[in-house]
Amino acid sequence: MNKKEKKILVTSALPYANGPIHIGHLVEYIQTDIYVRFLRLSGKKIIYCCADDTHGAPIQINASKQGISPEELIAHYYKEHTEDFEKFYISFDSYYSTNSPENKKFSDLIFSRLKDKGDIYLKRVELTYCPQCQRFLPDRYVKGVCPRCGASDQYGDNCEVCNATYATTDLANAYCVICQASPIRKKSDHYFFRLSNYTDRLQAWLNGNNQLQEEIKNYILKWIEAGLKDWDITRDAPYFGFQILDDPNKYYYVWLDAPIGYMASTQNYCQKHGDDFDSYWLNDTGKIIHFIGKDIIYFHFLFWPAMLMGSGFRLPDNIVVHGFLTVNKQKMSKSRGTFITAREYWQKTNPSYLRFYLAFNLSRNITDIDFDLNDFKDRINSELLGNFANLANRSLNFLKNKLGGKIGVPEDEYYTLVQQKIPLILKAYENCEFRAAIRGILDISDFANKYLQRREPWKVIKESPEEAGRIISTCVHWVRDLEILLKPVIPMICQELETQLNVSELTLQDLEKNIAGHSIGQPKPLVQRIEHLDFVGQGID
Ligand code: MSP
Ligand code: ZN
Repeated sequence: MNKKEKKILVTSALPYANGPIHIGHLVEYIQTDIYVRFLRLSGKKIIYCCADDTHGAPIQINASKQGISPEELIAHYYKEHTEDFEKFYISFDSYYSTNSPENKKFSDLIFSRLKDKGDIYLKRVELTYCPQCQRFLPDRYVKGVCPRCGASDQYGDNCEVCNATYATTDLANAYCVICQASPIRKKSDHYFFRLSNYTDRLQAWLNGNNQLQEEIKNYILKWIEAGLKDWDITRDAPYFGFQILDDPNKYYYVWLDAPIGYMASTQNYCQKHGDDFDSYWLNDTGKIIHFIGKDIIYFHFLFWPAMLMGSGFRLPDNIVVHGFLTVNKQKMSKSRGTFITAREYWQKTNPSYLRFYLAFNLSRNITDIDFDLNDFKDRINSELLGNFANLANRSLNFLKNKLGGKIGVPEDEYYTLVQQKIPLILKAYENCEFRAAIRGILDISDFANKYLQRREPWKVIKESPEEAGRIISTCVHWVRDLEILLKPVIPMICQELETQLNVSELTLQDLEKNIAGHSIGQPKPLVQRIEHLDFVGQGID
């Protein structure tokens, strides 16, 4: 590794420890994991950190409904989430929890630094309170009549009919979602973060960063122009979270300590592996890249960088934003039977197939991705199996069974094709244009299949075993390169193919290498055809 080359920290957003991982979440973890695996293959020093997001009112309310403690609830989901991620080969270097001592320490540190600077102030606010539940009600726990259009049964933050946004106290005929009682208004002292103080610095940071996706940057700049509102960063008991330094009746709002969880998870990694936290978060020796969904850009492009600026930490070098996964073009929903959990998926079919399908659809923009079961089956059967896996299997079988399994020298056509295609594929991976990377890979594979078909080594062998050897060795060299190029996307299938090729842990350095003289192992089918597949889509956990 080049001495000056920076160490890279990559993160995915922290899933709430309040429900199962579903295939929508997996867009993000798979996207990040493909990127991370690609960087590792290129020999970069990189760590991938994530955690469960364990705090907030919904977790406290859910635990209390189930008659268990929040700690028990989050322990349950920690186990379930980590199992699911393993099934999908998500290769975290640290998967931690926001309910950790490191996270408390960093939250207190950042809070106190901001407070000392005068960026945090106390303000009395009037909020919606349920006298029966004896608690303040967050947005999603109050419903009522929209103050603008009069639609009934709207949530406390915005109206799904007319899109108005408002405060919970603006709703007419409000009721508590937990117990149906009518809430009252109640005053409380809350801490606020002066986000408005950071307007210029945020603008400068956004304008000076040319890594960020333009469409997102423009959104955020518009929000800033419209004026930044200060941010309420505290909540009252009962709440599951960290008590605020010097004010034990208040808790940090979950969105304050959630992104700090990226730091806590890094710290956890560093402690276990003798690495240096400061080299990522403080010094210019590191690079930070977040992956997030488009619903949480406000937090990651405004609050989070402002908190980091105010407390003296490094800012993210890049934040990659993806669109949402829809199922049959609609938002996932239990009642429509389209809420496919990670668990239901892996219990029914191969996780590598979802990785391939998502990579096939992921690009560097925030358009939504649709999971359509028929399209999914077609892609797997025709591209992954029909195009790539069959090429590998036919080539290796022929070499093994007809020519003794020893690879020969490839024809020039081998080099012409890979020299033309591989640089574009690598560039596409680097830019998170996975769809383009996969297209390039499938082009090579398609070309190789046609070459095989055209050259008919099974006929040629009768006249000239040498020529048949050259033809099949050309194909096996392509297969070896395809295997390397597909490793970030389908690591398990590629590992199996490495065993069959009788090689191990190939990296990008092994691309385009002549391996004449090498003997392969035993070929086997790599991918099974999907015949029948159906999901209940109501969440199995
Ligand atoms: N806990 C917060 C994130 C805190 S990060 C400091 C959160 N959790 S979440 O479980 O709701 O979502 C986790 C990630 O999954 C988010 O980036 C979110 O955008 C993403 N997705 C959740 N549902 C999704 C789809 N249907 N499709 C694509 N991504 C989705 O937000
Ligand atoms: Zn109530």
